[in-house]
Amino acid sequence: MRPRRPRPRRLNAPQPGYGNPRVSVTLPKIIAHRGSPREAPENTLASFRRAKLSGAAFVEFDVALTRDARPVIFHDDGLERTSDGQGLLADLDFELVKHLDAGSWFDRQFAGEPIPTLEETLELLAALGLGFNMELKTDPGREAELAKIALPIALDIWPKDLPTPLISSFSRIAVAAARETAPQWPMDVIYDRIPAEWAEDAKTLDLAVIGANHKHLTREQVMEFRGSGLKISSYTVNDVERAATLFQWGVDAIFTDVPGDMVKRFGP
Ligand code: G3P
Ligand code: MG
Repeated sequence: MRPRRPRPRRLNAPQPGYGNPRVSVTLPKIIAHRGSPREAPENTLASFRRAKLSGAAFVEFDVALTRDARPVIFHDDGLERTSDGQGLLADLDFELVKHLDAGSWFDRQFAGEPIPTLEETLELLAALGLGFNMELKTDPGREAELAKIALPIALDIWPKDLPTPLISSFSRIAVAAARETAPQWPMDVIYDRIPAEWAEDAKTLDLAVIGANHKHLTREQVMEFRGSGLKISSYTVNDVERAATLFQWGVDAIFTDVPGDMVKRFGP
């Protein structure tokens, strides 16, 4: 038998065990954070329409559960900041949530803008041809429940010919449940400060993307993630020069409240 020649080592090849080889992910540079939240009330259909007008190709939104387990698009635990409701979203049934006004706090012209459901949001984004990042905003104890409810809805509605969505959460439990439900979609755990166990998370959760607060992110970390075959998304970047630095480091995508300014400088 002829001795086998050793294979040449491919430079920059992903390290085994990291990243998700089954899922290829194409990230846009610019992700419109909660829509275009300086032009319209965040996480509303009006905000997503403005994001489309800004030239962005992708929007981020936060999905959370009402008490009776309806997934709606909302960021905070409490209703006060971005609606005329009071108390916690998780304590209210959808029948009441659907009548709240999520627009007047921002500007009178948006009076009556509702807290959108996941279904109507995805239908609008599909009609606009906008890709999306769905961030799972979890209540303690309901992390897996949210993923198990939201992902099947998204899988059912999202047309296969539109860009593959990115699914993310600060909660590892939610990401693990999302991955089980939608193994064909790329997963992203978001961190404020990158913890020591990021590589372990990437491996056990089969991550395709690492999400990082740009305020604490370093060039060395970006290089390490890239060397591990991961893509990097960074939030929330509203300064164009800071965005330029992050892209130069090798960050793939930024979340921004000013998608129009960013698209003008970097493209979508
Ligand atoms: O995913 C990026 C960003 O949306 C995470 O933070 O609080 O704006 O949902 P937050
Ligand atoms: Mg978010």
